[in-house]
Amino acid sequence: MSTSSMTLFHNPASPFVRKVRVLLHETGQLDRVTLHACVPTPVKPDAEVIQDNPLGKIPALRLADGNVLHDSRVILDYFDYQHTGTPLIPRNGPARWRRLTLASTADGIMDAAVLVRYETAMRPEEKHWDLWLEGQRDKIRRALDMLEQDAITELAGPFDVAAISVACALAYLDFRHPGMQWRSSHPKLAAWYAEVSQRPSMLQTQPPA
Ligand code: BEZ
Repeated sequence: MSTSSMTLFHNPASPFVRKVRVLLHETGQLDRVTLHACVPTPVKPDAEVIQDNPLGKIPALRLADGNVLHDSRVILDYFDYQHTGTPLIPRNGPARWRRLTLASTADGIMDAAVLVRYETAMRPEEKHWDLWLEGQRDKIRRALDMLEQDAITELAGPFDVAAISVACALAYLDFRHPGMQWRSSHPKLAAWYAEVSQRPSMLQTQPPA
């Protein structure tokens, strides 16, 4: 029987939700949450989610006492304080700020990639703003270049907040933007991702095909 006392508002396609689910796997806390599926879009937020999070965004986490946490960064931090293993978000020192900055870079890739997805999949084609789309794709390319050139050794360390976030960002590019073909210009990231994508936490949180 489930012992879960918290509700995670989620959608299996969201890379932000996936970060949380991967951290739950990695820290052995999966059975603490019940998943509540929703399909929010920028023009139609989920009715139940907006009662708890006025922004209508997922993930949102309803705690046992009824309080609600959002967004993914806050929820990751919350769960990282709830297990007894090595923290996946360093508690202090330069490592904390560096790992959080790498995670923020990955979040920026996700932000841009989700915006491109919404623009291309939801807006009528004649209304697409090509220059804006290219600006978002440039953001993604610049961030990938930085990770490839400056961060690959660090990513190869513990599978922590930085590595989880980058892995989920790359997975989302594969899922929604296969045409970007990020591997050809980022071979070190590709080799790293080939390995970490085989972790049980990543395999068990794949979005439906
Ligand atoms: C998607 O379908 O790509 C998506 C769904 C929910 C949140 C973010 C992205």
